[in-house]
Amino acid sequence: MSDPIRCLEFFSGIGGLHYALNIAEVPATVVCAFDVNMIANQVYEYNFGHAPSNKTIERLTAKDIEKFKADCWLLSPPCQPYTQGGNMKDIDDPRAQGLVHLINLLPKLADPPTFLFLENVKNFEESQSRAKLVETLQSMNYQIKECLLSPIQFGIPNHRARYYMMARRLGSVEKAPSPPLGEIHTKWPFAGEYQFEVPELSQFIENSANDDLLYRVPEKEILKRHKFRFDIVQPSDNRTSCVTKAYGSHHLQTSGSLVQTQHLERVEYDWSDPKSLLELGLRFLTPIEISRLHAFPMPEYQLQTNTCSTKPRPFNPPHCLPHLMFPDSVSLMQRYRLLGNSLNCWVVAELLRCELF
Ligand SMILES: C[S@@+](CC[C@H](N)C(=O)[O-])C[C@H]1O[C@@H](n2cnc3c(N)ncnc32)[C@H](O)[C@@H]1O
Repeated sequence: MSDPIRCLEFFSGIGGLHYALNIAEVPATVVCAFDVNMIANQVYEYNFGHAPSNKTIERLTAKDIEKFKADCWLLSPPCQPYTQGGNMKDIDDPRAQGLVHLINLLPKLADPPTFLFLENVKNFEESQSRAKLVETLQSMNYQIKECLLSPIQFGIPNHRARYYMMARRLGSVEKAPSPPLGEIHTKWPFAGEYQFEVPELSQFIENSANDDLLYRVPEKEILKRHKFRFDIVQPSDNRTSCVTKAYGSHHLQTSGSLVQTQHLERVEYDWSDPKSLLELGLRFLTPIEISRLHAFPMPEYQLQTNTCSTKPRPFNPPHCLPHLMFPDSVSLMQRYRLLGNSLNCWVVAELLRCELF
């Protein structure tokens, strides 16, 4: 058997890309991860047994990177440079400098990676950062595939439209075709009309959370929003909205869905009377529920057997080790923030399995 592909995981957070690699069951291993967030690094180490390097990515030299002899780069750089909330400063945003630095380093490496996978928010496809990355990769004979996909297309009841790039460096004989700019796949599988059945949210829910005051949406937060249409979901629904890093805080507006735990017969809401919403027992999704929706490998959760194949497969809750666990010292708010910043491991695993490797 050949040696596993050596991967570097940049902007590793809690290790979503590492988990995806494990779920994909491809012969690959993460040889080093990099992140400056000490809490994320603590969670990463707790689960994977080795701490990411906390050296700022901008400070990495070609020599630093070459010593890992890595053949694959996994990247999930900060998304703020490409979001409205982050002012869309793109390449001029200091938070984009880690990625820009890595793009500049690529051609300087004695042995550039064969594989590259990048995840980011929708809008990245329009950015100068992406244009710079594509230009560099094309000049180095990489074959590039790009897509904009959401977990709901993979059979997971969660919307999280994200940009993904998969690039593979071809040998000196093969010439990579220039992808027609703007060809970004939006269907899964790329070629085909297959629709995966989306299970009910009830399959992802911890029923014990319904009575736990920890997760209750504070009454005052509901009462102060007149005519605001909360995104309320019931266990029988098969969708939830994108969970952002503000989830669980007082930013109720666009940070994610709220679960209705009472009066489930009520499906029409009077938004002009926030008081009437108090009877619905609205609560936040728990970190465990979000982890399940993001398809992190979890214990005691609908264990099913994944069949090994190279074809796109319907979602099966992953249970490979390590599971995603949080050390007790990580607070509820920190968990929400880390999960909101993270990614859907199943979507990435399928792309790694079917499209990159
Ligand atoms: C979008 S999150 C990635 C989350 C990750 N994929 C996960 O599964 O949790 C971006 C991460 O990049 C880290 N980061 C941002 N700028 C950095 C830099 N210059 N050097 C190293 N890490 C950086 C942040 O701390 C954050 O954890």
